Amino acid sequence: MIAAMARRLCFILHAWFAACGLASGSFECPCINNSSEGFAQLREKLPEFNVSNDYGLDGCKAYDVGHRNLGCARNALSFCSKSWCYVDVKLCRQNDEKCKDEGDKPGSRASPHCRSRPHVRSNPLSDVTGTEVFYSYETCGNINSYSDDDLFKVHAGNVVAGAVLAWPPWVVHEQGIDEKQSEFRGPEYNFFQHVLNLFDPDISLNVTLSGYTNQSVAITNDTSGGYSACVYDVAVGNYDVCIADLWITPERRLLTTFLPPLREDTFYLVVKRKPSQVHFWTRFHSPFKPFSFGAWASAIRACIEL
Ligand SMILES: *[C@@H]1O[C@H](CO)[C@@H](O)[C@H](O)[C@H]1NC(C)=O
Ligand SMILES: *[C@@H]1O[C@H](CO)[C@@H](O)[C@H](O)[C@H]1NC(C)=O
Ligand SMILES: *[C@@H]1O[C@H](CO)[C@@H](O)[C@H](O)[C@H]1NC(C)=O
Ligand SMILES: *[C@@H]1O[C@H](CO)[C@@H](O)[C@H](O)[C@H]1NC(C)=O
Ligand SMILES: *[C@@H]1O[C@H](CO)[C@@H](O)[C@H](O)[C@H]1NC(C)=O
Ligand SMILES: *[C@@H]1O[C@H](CO)[C@@H](O)[C@H](O)[C@H]1NC(C)=O
Repeated sequence: MIAAMARRLCFILHAWFAACGLASGSFECPCINNSSEGFAQLREKLPEFNVSNDYGLDGCKAYDVGHRNLGCARNALSFCSKSWCYVDVKLCRQNDEKCKDEGDKPGSRASPHCRSRPHVRSNPLSDVTGTEVFYSYETCGNINSYSDDDLFKVHAGNVVAGAVLAWPPWVVHEQGIDEKQSEFRGPEYNFFQHVLNLFDPDISLNVTLSGYTNQSVAITNDTSGGYSACVYDVAVGNYDVCIADLWITPERRLLTTFLPPLREDTFYLVVKRKPSQVHFWTRFHSPFKPFSFGAWASAIRACIEL
């Protein structure tokens, strides 16, 4: 029976994938084809970039495999063997107005206007063709590891306003002679600094010691010494980031996003043991304990039926 069900499930999955047509991209942001605007221009200009004239234009394919010019001679880079395509950007834009006009809600699969997939502008191709050219790995079911622009574009080159709460040894504040000479260190602070150093162009961090605002202390009824207020400050934009050795509580998680925890505290719940008397029935019952009476009954019934 299980085998039959598994087969049916496979069949359903198979049908679903066939219907999604991964070869031409997802319906929310399909690959470009010869009925898309700008297709002919792209086809004409691609050879100028030392690639064939159907590069990225023939549905989801791993176009970069073995491509020497793109650093994929040995396919060592993570994007080399991933499939992608140029997309028909007219069909990729989630348009809440059009979606609503069609009687749907954002996120609905009924219309391509209600959903989209990540797609990235190809700057050189857009400049050369004079039209907006976008590509997408996601429409082909892959993560874009070719360009990390998306990760960087939010803060790279900016000033980030950080509030720091010192809690040695994890976040240490070293007081200098005057305030300008004071310095922060400690494993958690250093980790954060290391993450910032990966951005290009650089991020300059402007930190304020115990920088949470009194207003946020009042709103959150903070009794944690500023930690909840600091998270609240990030949520409302008083600060961009709160650098502190703080707990990720459910309330705080609702307010903003956190880096993955760098360390964990372990708590033990200690309860008094209730003395229990051992009867014959308790002993008789214990081998059957893993399952309830109902579960045993249905297991036995299933065995008999088989
Ligand atoms: C081109 O793509 C559009 C949108 O995905 C699709 O409706 C159309 O059938 C495609 N045309 C061809 C010739 O494949
Ligand atoms: C468009 O592509 C389809 C299939 O990919 C092909 O059958 C058709 O002839 C093409 N149309 C033009 C105008 O090139
Ligand atoms: C294309 O290849 C030629 C010869 O290998 C090279 O001179 C040229 O700079 C390349 N063009 C691009 C856009 O990479
Ligand atoms: C850095 O933070 C201080 C205190 O919050 C502020 O007065 C100053 O204007 C900030 N500098 C920049 C460049 O944002
Ligand atoms: C915040 O509250 C503290 C303690 O009540 C006070 O010393 C400090 O001046 C207040 N800061 C501001 C900016 O009002
Ligand atoms: C803070 O305390 C006030 C009064 O005690 C209460 O009305 C308010 O709901 C509390 N706020 C939060 C976020 O717990």
